[in-house]
Amino acid sequence: MFSDLSHKVVVVTGGSKGLGSAIARRFGKENMKVVINYHTDAAGAQQTAEQVIAAGGQAITVQADVSTEDGIHTLCDMALQTFGDLDVWVNNAGMENQHATHQLTLAEWQRVINVNLTGVFLGTQTALNYFVKKNKAGNIINMSSVHEQIPWPTFAHYAASKGGIKLFTQTVAMEYAARHIRINAIGPGAINTPINAVKFADPQQLQTTIAMIPMQRIGDPDEVAAAAAWLASSESSYVTGVTLMVDGGMTLYPAFQGGNG
Ligand code: BGC
Repeated sequence: MFSDLSHKVVVVTGGSKGLGSAIARRFGKENMKVVINYHTDAAGAQQTAEQVIAAGGQAITVQADVSTEDGIHTLCDMALQTFGDLDVWVNNAGMENQHATHQLTLAEWQRVINVNLTGVFLGTQTALNYFVKKNKAGNIINMSSVHEQIPWPTFAHYAASKGGIKLFTQTVAMEYAARHIRINAIGPGAINTPINAVKFADPQQLQTTIAMIPMQRIGDPDEVAAAAAWLASSESSYVTGVTLMVDGGMTLYPAFQGGNG
């Protein structure tokens, strides 16, 4: 638990399921006021809100498309109207799907880039505007992936979006460091979330993935949420512009295990 988070206001995009839901719940345990954004899954967002409240936090759910300025402005307005302030903004919403690159349509490329990368830009910009206007220290966390670093054939649009998040995060971190605004990313590896449900339900695919992880297990969403809580808290006060990998060692070149190579 990070006591400085208590009663702070946080926006979590894509909070109806998966990592976003786990992060919102963790912030509930930290007694925070949580704006839970969802795109289509109102029931998932509502369930997350109930869990946040049961854990000791406050919560509202807000429908919004993070790839639009209107959507992001709605989120910020609702945070300010309901809770009167904004302290932390988590750009978590994201999507992935698989296409051979020579068959990837422009429409699909744009859909993934719009949500995963443009959504991060819009959320960051809106949070920055508020922090700058109020001259307050702020905190932004972007959901990247091990694939900001590891190439991922047939997921070129997804990998491009995550690589973009990495350099966007570093650049903005440098730009706003002197204003006491910190911005960091989290790089999850293979985590037990709905995005991976079909893949990990197949025992062979599950084994293939586990073989790529030095810790030899899939991660839990709460392990990612713990990283978000730490990055949001003042315990990480001298940390900005990093991607904190939460991946069981997936980015450590596991093929070299045992001295191979
Ligand atoms: C993806 C998962 C994948 C993991 C490791 C994540 O960014 O969302 O689907 O299992 O990377 O490849």
